[in-house]
Amino acid sequence: MNLNLAGKVALVVASSQGLGKAIAAQLVEEGAYVMITSRDEEKLQKTKQELEFIGKGKVEYFRADITNPDEIKLLVKVTNEVFGEIDILVNNAGGPPGGDFEKFSDEDWISAFNLNLLSYIRVIREVLPDMKKRGGRIINIASSSIKVPIPGLILSNTFRTGIVGLSKSLAEELGQFNILVNVIAPGRIATDRVAFLDQMKADKQGVTREEIEEKSKNTIPLGRYGKPEEFAKVVAFLVSDASTYITGSSLIIDGGLVKAI
Ligand SMILES: NC(=O)c1ccc[n+]([C@@H]2O[C@H](COP(=O)([O-])OP(=O)(O)OC[C@H]3O[C@@H](n4cnc5c(N)ncnc54)[C@H](OP(=O)(O)O)[C@@H]3O)[C@@H](O)[C@H]2O)c1
Repeated sequence: MNLNLAGKVALVVASSQGLGKAIAAQLVEEGAYVMITSRDEEKLQKTKQELEFIGKGKVEYFRADITNPDEIKLLVKVTNEVFGEIDILVNNAGGPPGGDFEKFSDEDWISAFNLNLLSYIRVIREVLPDMKKRGGRIINIASSSIKVPIPGLILSNTFRTGIVGLSKSLAEELGQFNILVNVIAPGRIATDRVAFLDQMKADKQGVTREEIEEKSKNTIPLGRYGKPEEFAKVVAFLVSDASTYITGSSLIIDGGLVKAI
């Protein structure tokens, strides 16, 4: 199967670490020209150095805070200048704070909306004029909470399902331009974010993070957390020329964690 990703231009948002970084790495390995981005110039520089020799592709970085619409505009403009028109957009973001309903004010809700849903909308708006000319792929990263809400993560639970509504509607609107829009939803993939959430739970319960991890792994049929590379490979397939008839879908990558049908 030929993924045909060599020379394709990809913008991977929120990619200095974790899932975004793993996706960028996989695409570079397949020969794509990848723009990585986050708020932290130093981390980006380091990530670029790590990724640039892993394949035939290219990697550049641009610092941008995706809660700022002007910085999003600039990010897309610079990507176009450096690599050309964008073929592949992977929307991703940091997770919103954990907590239950009564903890959060209007400001908290608005900032989670900005980070976890509006940023996706804004980046899509910027890449669309070019993508409509040639077709393309949009992947929106969400969470397994699109199927089963996760206790203590009400901000995330709320806006991730918004991503699904957005993506399904866009798949309908953009199919005529051969733009395929899909959601990929991680269960528990071993990144800093997951370690942080496990630590938070451990502190709350007065146990160690390892104990929380062990309990959590027992609920996953494959008996372990996923590796970021395992997640990234699925993204690489869906954004490639090998995937031509999947759009409007939500794919959960969770080792069987989600029990809903
Ligand atoms: N890992 C999992 O199993 C899992 C499960 C369910 C859902 N998710 C969700 O999937 C997403 C990625 O997960 P992850 O585990 O890779 O998280 P992570 O390790 O915390 O990485 C988050 C990335 O987002 C960037 N970022 C955060 N705020 C940003 C902003 N305002 N502007 C630009 N970049 C920003 C961070 O970079 P800087 O700090 O350098 O800006 C970092 O590169 C998160 O939304 C997470 O909640 C993950």
